[in-house]
Amino acid sequence: MEYVKLGSTGLDVSRICLGCMSFGLPDRGTHTWSLDEEASRPLIRRALDAGINFFDTANVYSDGTSEEIVGRALAEYANRDEIVLATKVHGRMRSGPNSGGLSRKAVMTEIDHSLRRLGTDYVDLYQIHRWDPTTPVEETMEALHDVVKAGKARYIGASSMYAWQFSKAQYTARLGGWTRFVSMQNHYNLLYREEEREMLALCADQGVGTLPWSPLARGRLTRDWDETSERSRTDEFGKRLYQEGDRAVVDAVAAVAAERGVPRARVALAWLLQQNTVAAPIVGVTKPHHVDDAVAALDVHLTDKETEALQEPYRPHHVSGH
Ligand SMILES: NC(=O)c1ccc[n+]([C@@H]2O[C@H](COP(=O)([O-])OP(=O)(O)OC[C@H]3O[C@@H](n4cnc5c(N)ncnc54)[C@H](OP(=O)(O)O)[C@@H]3O)[C@@H](O)[C@H]2O)c1
Repeated sequence: MEYVKLGSTGLDVSRICLGCMSFGLPDRGTHTWSLDEEASRPLIRRALDAGINFFDTANVYSDGTSEEIVGRALAEYANRDEIVLATKVHGRMRSGPNSGGLSRKAVMTEIDHSLRRLGTDYVDLYQIHRWDPTTPVEETMEALHDVVKAGKARYIGASSMYAWQFSKAQYTARLGGWTRFVSMQNHYNLLYREEEREMLALCADQGVGTLPWSPLARGRLTRDWDETSERSRTDEFGKRLYQEGDRAVVDAVAAVAAERGVPRARVALAWLLQQNTVAAPIVGVTKPHHVDDAVAALDVHLTDKETEALQEPYRPHHVSGH
């Protein structure tokens, strides 16, 4: 495994982050395709055995059960001091007022719930899952700073939003003398490259590490365009992210992978790993060989010709996934 400093911090993260949205009780929350505890644990174990030390979950994943499953498995299989545990806040956790968003009340309440479910005293990276247009950013940044100062989070990060919003949050933190975000978890893969317009340049300029989510376009980049899986048939959010014109990119990945004689996932991840600012793609796994392919992608070094072949068919998308 390779490790890299996350952005301009001193924190060592493996170059593959394990996406823990795949883990959670299927009858809780909206991911009917997620794996229950028994099916999830061997995948978490396999990731640790491969040297992956970076795990990403969220309070909303499967209604908190992702955090519970991941917390129990890591407590059993890993040394807490070595792993980097990331979770998120913003999504609605209950019905009624103050059940989501980034108010001071929500942030303070949700970090405590996440820590309880994860069975730990602190998370390494506490991320805002989205922008909250209904809460002043000063309120959010000061609350996040207080979470860090209380020892409940080591670092803070952000996820999908417009570059102007991220920039505003960072400068607000600087003006207030508060903790700044060290990472941007954004939607970035060979099928969705709109982040190249503004966000990646901002992150490079500010020394922020990026952590692409759905790096395999939720499985689309690993199989023929018309092929489906149980997840793809029931993944409602994923159905809205990609478009018919992406078929040509999927074909290009297939061609480069066939030429090299490697699985397509390795090629798609290798491309991301070569992009400036990308610290670690957050890979979703539902089978043991998915972990192996993610790790093996580190050994795939694409030539300029291959990179061009993968990038050339791209057609711009409407901004989505915010
Ligand atoms: N911040 C956010 O808003 C946000 C949003 C989405 C996700 N995330 C994070 O990103 C993580 C990854 O998201 P994701 O699961 O959508 O990512 P992904 O890595 O793009 O897709 C994972 C899917 O790709 C397929 N796959 C993976 N490896 C494969 C391989 N080697 N060969 C063949 N197929 C393979 C599997 O599909 P099948 O199961 O269909 O076989 C798997 O479920 C999540 O767990 C979460 O931590 C964050």
